[in-house]
Amino acid sequence: MFDTLDAVLADAATHLTRAARDRKSPMHVPVVGTADGDLRMMVLRSCDQAIGLLRFHTDARSTKTATIGGNGMASVLAFDLEAKIQLRLRGTARIETTGAIADAAWAAASPYARRCYLAVGAPGSPADQPGSGLPTEVEGIRPSEEQLLPARENFAVLLIEPHSLDWLYLAHDGHRRAQFTRGEPGQDWQGTWVIP
Ligand SMILES: Cc1cc2nc3c(=O)[nH]c(=O)nc-3n(C[C@H](O)[C@H](O)[C@H](O)COP(=O)(O)O)c2cc1C
Repeated sequence: MFDTLDAVLADAATHLTRAARDRKSPMHVPVVGTADGDLRMMVLRSCDQAIGLLRFHTDARSTKTATIGGNGMASVLAFDLEAKIQLRLRGTARIETTGAIADAAWAAASPYARRCYLAVGAPGSPADQPGSGLPTEVEGIRPSEEQLLPARENFAVLLIEPHSLDWLYLAHDGHRRAQFTRGEPGQDWQGTWVIP
């Protein structure tokens, strides 16, 4: 079934595009790595069919945001237990807090999702007691559009343009592995089989 590199690439694209739109997909929450060696799970919000751009949402005040900045590197790791497929991607990464992509993502997010960005302190900053960091008036409720206004400036999108993709399929009769690279975003992926 995975006899050609084209089939493998199509499989990777199917997994990632489905992961972005289906919260039950095993790849919906991949691990995202940054150049400082840190890792964290993040919800994959979108991925196009060409695997040209992956979008995640985060707090503009978070540690990863500072690490990545406007021009960083990031990796993405995802595994589908049932399909026995592991995907590893590496690429350039950037944080955007303004612009069309961030505005559209903010507009499409639910009030509950947007509420997270009302937290009074930056993620990871010290707290006197356990708690969400949200102002008490919005905790446990669906906030109004007016209450959500100050949250917008804390919202950011993390955009990753992958330039390498490692696909691994685990199978009883022999694993399969392929690697793909591309020079510039928008160029075609070039693939090769490798020993698993
Ligand atoms: C299932 C799950 C989903 C998560 N989704 C996100 C997400 O979409 N965006 C995000 O910024 N953090 C998300 N987190 C929290 C991150 O893993 C991480 O703890 C947080 O972003 C702080 O990371 P940082 O210190 O590297 O900035 C998620 C955590 C879990 C367990």
